[in-house]
This record gives sequence, structure tokens and C-alpha cells, in this order.
Amino acid sequence: MKKPLFLLVMTLFYQYTFSQVTTISIKNNNDSPIISKHIYGHFAEHLGHCIYGGFFVGDTSKIPNTNGVRNDIVKALKDLKIPNLRWPGGCFADTYHWKDGIGPKEQRPTIVNQWWGGVTEDNSFGTHDFLNMCELLGAEPYLSGNVGSGTVQELADWVQYTNFAGKSPMSDLRKKNGRTEPWKVKYWGIGNEAWGCGGNMTADYYANEYKKFATFMSDWGNAGGITRIASGSNSSDYNWTEVLMKNIPLSMLGGVGVHHYAVINWDKKGSDVDFTEKEYFLTMQSALKMEELVAKHAAIMDKYDPEKKVAMIVDEWGGWYEVQKGTNPGFLYQQNTMRDAILAGATLNIFNNHADRVRMANLAQCVNVLQAVILTDKAKMITTPTYHVMKMYSVHQDAKLLPIDFKSPLYTFNGQSIPAISVSASKDQSGTIHISLVNIDPVNKNKIEIDVKDLGAKGFSGNSITASKLQDYNSFENPNKIIPIAFKGFEYKKGKLEITIPPYSVLVLEGK
Ligand code: AHR
Repeated sequence: MKKPLFLLVMTLFYQYTFSQVTTISIKNNNDSPIISKHIYGHFAEHLGHCIYGGFFVGDTSKIPNTNGVRNDIVKALKDLKIPNLRWPGGCFADTYHWKDGIGPKEQRPTIVNQWWGGVTEDNSFGTHDFLNMCELLGAEPYLSGNVGSGTVQELADWVQYTNFAGKSPMSDLRKKNGRTEPWKVKYWGIGNEAWGCGGNMTADYYANEYKKFATFMSDWGNAGGITRIASGSNSSDYNWTEVLMKNIPLSMLGGVGVHHYAVINWDKKGSDVDFTEKEYFLTMQSALKMEELVAKHAAIMDKYDPEKKVAMIVDEWGGWYEVQKGTNPGFLYQQNTMRDAILAGATLNIFNNHADRVRMANLAQCVNVLQAVILTDKAKMITTPTYHVMKMYSVHQDAKLLPIDFKSPLYTFNGQSIPAISVSASKDQSGTIHISLVNIDPVNKNKIEIDVKDLGAKGFSGNSITASKLQDYNSFENPNKIIPIAFKGFEYKKGKLEITIPPYSVLVLEGK
């Protein structure tokens, strides 16, 4: 007998909406790597209003500050458990001469910031300001040394100035400038984007430069020494990684960088807030390329370093759009929408799942630049959807990765497809389980069944973040439009989590 049309439509609707269940299995595995907290790192360049008018307002400002650094930003970043902060660039790093930024402020020379807006840099925020700020934040500093226009001696001196406890020309100078104890900076980048703004070098040439600079950067007898980090490839330039790994002795190499921005098209990057579904799809396609990049760069590193001693450090990542209308094109100021929250959640899941090799990453950039977690407008400060995702995900910091087995359903647009679901999971030192899930699909909810029998949790709770539309953002007028809320769309029975994850949402479940 033929089904009435109404029943047929209802059946198809039901099947389409509810029958596609994605099954995921999460296992306990003692051999899994620890997700380094440093994957949740940030980046602050002398660019636009990241430092000046962002972090740093000066100690005469009416905005509450500690030695010129805004107290509200310090609090927000401490709440985020910021593990490290990269400074002073970026492209700026290869024009920066650190001795310009020490000593009495009124005597510091000015320079022109040639990469970012041609503005005058008065060097009022320098080494002491940055390293003392890192102490306030409880974050490890990651200094990018100048290779492009600096000298070996200059970088060797910077290490001595910041790290040497004994008597030496540089430690004496540090003491004269008011700091007795060394800061013991661990992370040192040797140049930035050496293939581009850092000097337009070939990989072979840079590998030689790296060895020369690295040789003279002493550990100064500090426990644990310093981690020397090579300026890494531009996105999928696998040859760059191959040449560095082949030519630099592993004993001289603590980490190799990778930079990858999620961008639709470098010539036409699209609006930060007024974007179409097509632009959303293309941004996410570019962001999810991180999976392939990390896997392929890691495979090259494995060839030369099978014991995985050298860290992969994704020291610049994030979404890059056209600047906000009416703002200085050289300042890279953009709003941060729900699209950015999805981008952050999916990218951090990729890093977590590759924790065996990816041991540090730095979102670009922390305040007022690109995919910022914090935006300021004079005395006002807001946190962005990306901030909330990083805060929700901070539970993974230094937790043990739990391996996941699953096949994602697809999000298809205009005949092209990308995975709709992104997931990672970890178990922290107290035995608490965290599962972070992202539904990238902007239209369809997804039913997910997670087998967690192996993990022995008694119960689960959750938080999620979503919005009325993908283009929504937190503004200075409405700063809490997008914030995490309790998530109730799941059931936990017989070792299985049955979840219905709404379109374009990020979710973190906690099991105890
Ligand atoms: O983050 C902005 C710029 O992007 C950095 O200065 C540079 O390293 C990259 O090209």
C-alpha cells in the first residue's frame, strides 16, 4: 500500500533530522601524550593597538594599571590561564633593537614601525615592561629575536641581559636599570618568517643563519636551559621544514615554527562581520587545513626526530579578514564573531589531537589585532567569543589526551565538503574527563553518541557557546551577547553520552 504523502514527508524529515547519528568512541590510554598548556598561548606584537592603547596605557593613565599595564586585561588573561605570550613580533621583531627599549624612558630613541602603519614607536614599552608584565600574568615569555636586521652579538646580549645571574656587562646593565634577578626567559625565537618579512631568505640560507645565532645564545647555566625555536614554514611549505630538520643538529633545535592563517583569499579577505555562508565555509575550509598541515609537517619531523624531541610550535594562527571599516589598514583591527569561536574550537581540537608533536601555539593576536581575545576602546574592555572558547578549553591544559575514534559527518556547501564535527578529549590529573565538541555546520544540528564506558565517569555536565546568528559578536554596547551557558542537550546512560549539538556551536562536557 502506498504511504500517504504527509507520512512520507514526515518520515523523510525525521530520517534527515534525527537518524544520522555520529558515533564516537573515547578510550583511556596511559601511553597518550600530555596536552601542553603552551598550546593555549598568545601573541602580542607592536602592531596597531595591541601594545600601545591595548596592553599598555602608561602609568600616568586614568585607566587602572600596574606600571602602565591595564589591570582589567591582566585579570582577564589570568582568568584565561594564559600560559605564554610571544613578543615583540611578528614582522616587527626583525626590525626591533632591544637596547632601544631599556633605561630611562625619556632617553629612549624613537623608530618608525615600517611594517605596521608607519607610526612612530617611542620604545616606551620595552624588555622590562614586557617581562614584568609576564610575571603579573603568570605567563612564560616567548621572545622573538631579530635575525633579519640584527646581529648575533645583539641577540646573544639580550639572552645575557634577561637570563644571567652572575656578573657580566649585560647583567650589570640590567641591574643598573632596576632589575636584580634575571627573568630566566626560556623560549627564544630565532627570527620570524625568515622566508618573508624576516629577510626573504631561502631555507638553506636561514638554516645556516639559525645555527650561527643559536651557537652564541648561551643557557647561562640556568636549570632547564633555553628553548631555541626556528622560524617555521609559511603554511604548506613542507620543503622549509625538511631543510631545517635535515641541516640543524637536533641538539640545537628546541622547536620549529609553523604559521597558518585562516583566510579566504589574501587579495580579498572578506568582511569580519558581514559575511555570507560561502565566506564562512571558505574560512572554515582554510582553518581546517591545519589538520593536514600539522600531520604533514609532523611526518617530516618524525623522519629526522623519531623520538619527537623537537616541538612543533604553531606560533601564529587565527582568522584574518579585512580591517574594520574606517580603521587604519596597517593596524589589522577586526571584530570577532561566532565564526571565530567555531574557528578557535576546531583549531584547538586539532592541536590537542596532535599533542605528541604540537607543544606550543600562539593565537594571533591577543589584544585589538586579528583574532583577538580582548578588544579595548579607551577605558572600555570586552572579551570576544574566541576568549570564551579559550577559557572553556583551558581545562585541557596539561591534561592527558584521550584518543578518539570517529568519522565526522560532512558539512557540504556548493558541492564542496568539510567535516562538520570536531572533537578532542582529555583526562586531567584529578581524573576529570573533558570532551570539547564543535558543530561547524551552520544549518543542521547533529546527533552524536559517545561511548565513554572505558572512562568510568559517574556523571557529566556541560557548557556551550552559540549565538542567534553566525555574524553575532560582543560589542562595547552589548559585551555579553555571546557567553558560555549551561548545556542541557544531552543524556548519559549506560556509559553512553547522547548529545544533540546545535548548529554552529562549541561545547565542553565535563565527566567525573
Ligand atoms: O600577525 C600579523 C603578522 O602576520 C605578523 O607580524 C607576521 O609574522 C605575519 O605575517
